[in-house]
Amino acid sequence: MKDTENSMKTVTIAGQTVPQTAALAPMASVADTAYRTLCAEHGACMTTGELVSAKGLCYGSRGSAELCRITAAERPMGLQLFGAEPEFIAEAVQKMLSFGPDWIDINMGCPVPKVVSQGAGSALMKTPELAEQVLSAAVRSAAGAVPVTVKMRIGWDGESINAVEFAKRMEAAGAAAIAVHGRTRMQFYGGEADWKPIAEVKAAVSVPVIGNGDVASGADAVRMYAETGCDLVMVGRATYGNPWIFEEIEAAVCGEAYQPPAVRERLAEMLRHIRMILDTSEKSEKLAMREARKHALWYLRGYPGAAAFRARSAQLNSYAEAEALAEEYLARNP
Ligand SMILES: Cc1cc2nc3c(=O)[nH]c(=O)nc-3n(C[C@H](O)[C@H](O)[C@H](O)COP(=O)(O)O)c2cc1C
Repeated sequence: MKDTENSMKTVTIAGQTVPQTAALAPMASVADTAYRTLCAEHGACMTTGELVSAKGLCYGSRGSAELCRITAAERPMGLQLFGAEPEFIAEAVQKMLSFGPDWIDINMGCPVPKVVSQGAGSALMKTPELAEQVLSAAVRSAAGAVPVTVKMRIGWDGESINAVEFAKRMEAAGAAAIAVHGRTRMQFYGGEADWKPIAEVKAAVSVPVIGNGDVASGADAVRMYAETGCDLVMVGRATYGNPWIFEEIEAAVCGEAYQPPAVRERLAEMLRHIRMILDTSEKSEKLAMREARKHALWYLRGYPGAAAFRARSAQLNSYAEAEALAEEYLARNP
């Protein structure tokens, strides 16, 4: 695509040439296959699977393998591994390759105790030498079959911000791209993301840098590109019930106006999303609906009557009930 004022720029990251709009962030228990498909349809230019335990995959866990399934509609899509033992990472990369990922990402940002207590996820930011061994093991194992990328935070806590040195190490160990979430581990998901270290990482490495943290609108994405110089913006929580954010970001980066969807359209998309969850789940409708509930209630956040809608969403047991809820809402709020 030509780089003129009104056409979208493209960027090449981990071997994928994509429009410079926004990627969907990996989100365990949220960004599953239905979610990724929906976001890709709305313009997410890259998607990543939920984090997968390297050990789980090596030991043949069915759940871990299920997280590695990729469909064409989700591509370009990467799969993400977590672990702190280079030998398990190397073997897990081999197993992951059989699922056909476009790239493999190594998680160095997850803050949850279950992961951190194994020395994995964001704990690797405290042990850069081990992180380097983990990454090198992944790169060696992938042997050029797919690029290996890293997703990291800016440090463990406010006193140990080491994003720049850490990213440089990862680049030297063979990372093909680096995503930086502008928070420390100790911040979990609270407080405000600090984009300055993202800019510093971008200035310090020559592989593409993906900026992440608190992008909640088209204007935010434009600001993140301007303030950090990142190659691509990645969006997580602002996609909840709002796959249109990718269209909003595309409009913003192209300098075009954006018209948010009307309530009727939101509800129609909610129903389509629930249908996709049911169609892609191996569980019964009743059990799959338990996972669909949180998505349903997100679609009307901030709208009149959202509290009552949320309460009803939390009880949904079937697609038919979701349809009835949407109809009722529209009848009350025409
Ligand atoms: C529910 C949830 C699950 C997440 N799961 C993962 C994950 O599996 N792997 C990962 O690298 N990051 C994970 N993250 C972090 C996000 O990818 C992202 O870095 C973070 O939410 C900040 O971006 P945001 O402000 O746009 O949400 C998760 C975040 C949330 C809220």
